[in-house]
Amino acid sequence: MRVGVLTGGGDCPGLNAVIRAVVRKGVQEYGYDFVGFRDGWRGPLENDTIPLDIRAVRGILPRGGTILGSSRTNPLKSEDGIRRVKDTLAKQEIEALIAIGGEDTLGVAARLSGEYGIRCVGVPKTIDNDLSATDYTFGFDTAVNIATEAIDRLHTTAESHMRVLVVEVMGRHAGWIALHSGLAGGANVILIPEQRFDVDQICAWVESRFKIRYAPIVVVAEGAMPKGGDAVLKDDSLDSFGHVRLSGIGEWLAKEIERRTGKDARTTVLGHVQRGGTPSAFDRWLATRFGLHAIDAVRDQHFGTMVALRGTNIVRVPLADATARLKTVDPSEYEEAKVFFG
Ligand code: F6P
Repeated sequence: MRVGVLTGGGDCPGLNAVIRAVVRKGVQEYGYDFVGFRDGWRGPLENDTIPLDIRAVRGILPRGGTILGSSRTNPLKSEDGIRRVKDTLAKQEIEALIAIGGEDTLGVAARLSGEYGIRCVGVPKTIDNDLSATDYTFGFDTAVNIATEAIDRLHTTAESHMRVLVVEVMGRHAGWIALHSGLAGGANVILIPEQRFDVDQICAWVESRFKIRYAPIVVVAEGAMPKGGDAVLKDDSLDSFGHVRLSGIGEWLAKEIERRTGKDARTTVLGHVQRGGTPSAFDRWLATRFGLHAIDAVRDQHFGTMVALRGTNIVRVPLADATARLKTVDPSEYEEAKVFFG
């Protein structure tokens, strides 16, 4: 059997660990051959491949990024996209495709498999942790660790100058990175996209923190919105899946806090540093297990499925279920964190 592998969407730590596990088990246990497609769905669309064998995956377990490259190319956007993908798969004699990606990449895999008979198995990745049907996506734990370390460091500089530090983290329309890193880092305010925030309330928390002679740290998710306002966008551009580029709410909020309280405020935007570098041990473990189970799903001809984490077990779920809706922060979980605000 010849199996194609691609990594699509925003990269995240752990992609290489999945590729390594898929290839190692696929070659050693099942005698499969592999073809790597470059840059997500652009690879099958343009028949752009790289050799993928045991040698190619040696030493990549701790490496961030992806040896296959990634992109946000959407093959369903171009008129002849499906035909071109099918032609490539036929030319390369691919009998099964493993798509490692988030909502968009797996959404394409779900349609290709459900409507066009392309035999796909999905693996859930994203630092945002916003995919339904899996308890966690790999990449998330690393991003939370990076954000937590940044918050730890910002505490000491904020205290030295007795100023407000606003930390903007990624996550798109889900507040998982903000909530987890904010709790782990002892933030005094955590703002998530799932609940609009009240700037007066934030200022009250900031003031109360200064009263006990500590400097406040405000963690804000890039998609968080003030009451009566909109999300702050980086620019007007949309990617090929129609997503806007978020970022800027941290800067806006720091200015607003400064204006209303008279306190000095600064912003740190963590940006892509949250996605770069070596994966945490948890992400290596999760990504490796996802890879091992994905190649087992191929062997079982269980196509149209995605591997998912449930508790400590890896299960298979329909790809369509995994991409049907975003997994966002439950209000009760956010409520729990509020005991630390102010
Ligand atoms: O989905 C992962 C993510 O890092 C989001 O948190 C963020 O909004 C987006 O990708 C950034 O995208 P880009 O890589 O196109 O800047």
